[in-house]
Amino acid sequence: MTNSRFENHLLSQFKIQYPIIQAPMAGGITTPEFLKSVFDAGALPSLATGYRSLTGLKEDLEALKTLGVSIYNANLFVPELLTKETVAKAKPAYQALKPFYGALNITQEPIEFREIQELDDYAKKVELLLEYRVPIVSFVFDMPSLEIIRQFKAIGTYTIGTATSVEEVVALDTLELDAIILQGIEAGGHRASFISDCEDGDDLRTLLKKAKQVTDRPLLVAGGICQYLDIDHYLTEGAAAAVIGTAFLACAESGASSLHKEKILNACAGETMLTNAFTGKWARGFTNRFMVQYAEDDLPVACYPVQHYFTSALRAEAKKNNFPEYMSLWAGMNAHRVTEKTVKALMARLVSP
Ligand SMILES: Cc1cc2nc3c(=O)[nH]c(=O)nc-3n(C[C@H](O)[C@H](O)[C@H](O)COP(=O)(O)O)c2cc1C
Repeated sequence: MTNSRFENHLLSQFKIQYPIIQAPMAGGITTPEFLKSVFDAGALPSLATGYRSLTGLKEDLEALKTLGVSIYNANLFVPELLTKETVAKAKPAYQALKPFYGALNITQEPIEFREIQELDDYAKKVELLLEYRVPIVSFVFDMPSLEIIRQFKAIGTYTIGTATSVEEVVALDTLELDAIILQGIEAGGHRASFISDCEDGDDLRTLLKKAKQVTDRPLLVAGGICQYLDIDHYLTEGAAAAVIGTAFLACAESGASSLHKEKILNACAGETMLTNAFTGKWARGFTNRFMVQYAEDDLPVACYPVQHYFTSALRAEAKKNNFPEYMSLWAGMNAHRVTEKTVKALMARLVSP
């Protein structure tokens, strides 16, 4: 299906049919086969490299080659350095988690901070993506260095930063990035914030309006998008493409668990909230007992990614037992508007007036 509404420069640059980007989603969701179905449907797939081992990432890059996925975005978590504040917050946060571990019969010692700092292998992932000459790279959680951006640009890779506020757009605009993803407060998963990480933030419409005042770079919009009218609105307002997470996650082809998909397909309005209890960074997901107790009792939380590793055994145990009350089931504010169960059906809905 073609729709002249969707003609723009990004499509010819990326050689995709529609200005629709399947959002990067870490945690086993963005399998090469899933990306292939997005690519075949005419949208731009994104590979999440966050939390993925180097071996796993290499396998993904090889598989994308074999599957003929010639254009995709590889997304990198820009690491945060552990500070004195991180260390100070870790101890009370670990103590606060103990009763939850007790409830699920888990025994675990705190992880060494040094070990945590090394965990996402950012530098090695950058090297690997350069080696594979990925067509597009996006950065999240902080500003990449100019040196890294230039390394990618030197091999022809299109580079993208991610912002949640106008201050972050201004900061990213000082770099030589090709485009900026704007992430509204509606978005599922982690807030991409790097200047102020808090529960508050602009909705996507407001953020787009503000961002247009301060940058001429192409703006890719993310957060709560799941139908044609949303995309039409943002394109009319000057966005270059829509970045969609939750609606793609619910599709049969994605690597998300069936429990996660069912939760989205059966969601009601108002079922998500922002929490920092799972990872130390604010993220939106389905409200559960763990999040509510942290919010109500104002329990101490370690900085990201320390809290992420502190809760990993708890989340794994809850997943094993299909117990959503202790799982981080990330989803956007409009999860209740998601109805499609396959990439093909979703894409048909997204591009039909
Ligand atoms: C399960 C899940 C995992 C996510 N992981 C990442 C990630 O690894 N990198 C990233 O830049 N954004 C990540 N996000 C945020 C998405 O890229 C995007 O901003 C968001 O999904 C858009 O909102 P929507 O879910 O309402 O469509 C994640 C979102 C979800 C739902």
